[in-house]
Parts: sequence; structure tokens; C-alpha cells
Amino acid sequence: MTSQHGHTVFTSFDAIPATYPIGIFDSGVGGLTIAAAIRRTMPDEKLLYLGDVARQPYGTKSPRTVTRYAVQASEFLVEKGIKALVVACNTASAVALDAISERFPGLPVLGVVEAGADGAARASARGRIVVAATEGTCRSEAYERAIALRRQDATVRCIPCPLFVALAEEGLTDGPIVESVARHYLGSLFDRDKGADGEAGDCLVLGCTHFPLLAPALARLAGPGVTLVDCAEATASMLVRLLEGREAPRGSGGGLQLISTDAPERFSRMAGKLFPAMGPSPAVELADL
Ligand code: DGL
Repeated sequence: MTSQHGHTVFTSFDAIPATYPIGIFDSGVGGLTIAAAIRRTMPDEKLLYLGDVARQPYGTKSPRTVTRYAVQASEFLVEKGIKALVVACNTASAVALDAISERFPGLPVLGVVEAGADGAARASARGRIVVAATEGTCRSEAYERAIALRRQDATVRCIPCPLFVALAEEGLTDGPIVESVARHYLGSLFDRDKGADGEAGDCLVLGCTHFPLLAPALARLAGPGVTLVDCAEATASMLVRLLEGREAPRGSGGGLQLISTDAPERFSRMAGKLFPAMGPSPAVELADL
């Protein structure tokens, strides 16, 4: 273990205690979709979740700013003591994963874009893939690159849907407002008669960790022939393989600790509303990065 700029940095994975949690971060409550899947898949592991709500949204910011925020969020979690890091934010995964991995050479780090791309490449029947994501994720073309490595026949259309983030953070996950915003962004892409290029999408990737919260409305809009891809389960499976591959010490007892960079009461209310399994008002600690 070494210390850089006051932060603890692990240089050897062997040195990381089994009792340490898995660190997870997003700009807000969206990454809890990933945390929930990890809890289902690895119930014995302790999870430490950071929602950087003071600086959200990440999706409309420049790659430079998102990278700075993502590295700071990672440093905060590493300093608390974690045995692996999940970047539960597509925007940060798309632009900052290399910077985070370079910053913590001894730590297993996993992003969510690979999982989403993998799911899309498997799920799409005709290779007509629509990715709903943030502006930053679309601008990075990370999905196009990751899918091209897996399916050369695929056409990928990445559609920025920034208002979906605000709707999810507001706890507004279904109903006429969500349907109308969804139609605004995605309506023409799943129109069997008027699809772009004359080809309607056959697969919709929820390329932002907030978007699975709107899944029922998005599934209705896309229609019965379209497969929705949510990267949460795939990320959890990848994490299992990553930790097994590194012969990581297993956790015990489970548990989820929540930290927010602003308004912890609001974070608690929204987490409780969107994820009833956490109870009506889970404890949320306030922290400055
Ligand atoms: N949930 C994040 C993502 O997956 C970012 C949402 C935002 O802050 O714009 O991209």
C-alpha cells in the first residue's frame, strides 16, 4: 500500500482485506440499478455506494470534467477502503475508465459499457441496435466501438436522452410525462413504417444506469419485437468473473452503505421509493469529495 496526495493506493491486490466492500459510484441514484443486481448476484459482499448528486448530471458535461469527477469519486472510495471498484455510470465508463485504472493499478475496476455492448451484441436479432444514453456517452462513441468489436454486421444509433436522467432522479418513472418524453426521443426509431433508414430498431440498450428505472414505459414504446438490454445483470456477472479471476477474498455478511455528496435526505427518499427492497428511508451519509 502506498500513499499519494493523501490517498491510499493499493499496489498489490493480495494486500486488500476480504472485509473491505466493493465500491460503486454514479452521479446519483441511477447506479443503484447496478448495486441491486450485484446484491442479488453476490449477496455476501458488502457494498459501498457513492452518489455524486452535488455534481450531477455527468451526462451533459465535457469528458475532461467527467474524468475529473470520476477520478475524485474513485479516490474517495479507495480512501475508505474497497477491494474492487464498479463505475456504475455509462458516461464515466465511456470517458474515464482508463484514467481510473491508471490511477489505481492494483485495483480491479469495472465499467458498465462493455456489459451493455455485450448484451446488445447477443440480444439483437438483425443488428439494428438503438442505444439510449447521455449526450456524453453518445459523443464518446464508446458503444459504437464496443459493439463493433462483437458484431461487425450491426448498425448502432446512439440517441442522447438527457431528460430521462432528471425524470428518474425525480422518481417519475412511468405515466404520460415519461411516455411523451420517450416518444420525443425514441418514437421514430421503433416505428415499423417510418424507422430511420427504413429499418426499425430490434434492440434498445438502456445505456445509462438511470434508464432501467423507466423500463416499463420504454418497453411499451419500443414494442413487443424489441429486446431491452439492461447492463446491470451483465455487469454483476462480469464482476463475479473478475473477482474470481483475481482470486479475490470473498466477503461475508452483505450490506449496502450509501453516501451522497449532497442532500442525503432526498437521496434516501428517492432510493427508498425507487428500490423498495432498501426500506422506505435507508440511511445515507453526507460526504464532500
Ligand atoms: N447514470 C449515468 C450514466 O449511466 C449518468 C447520468 C447523468 O448524471 O447524466 O451515464
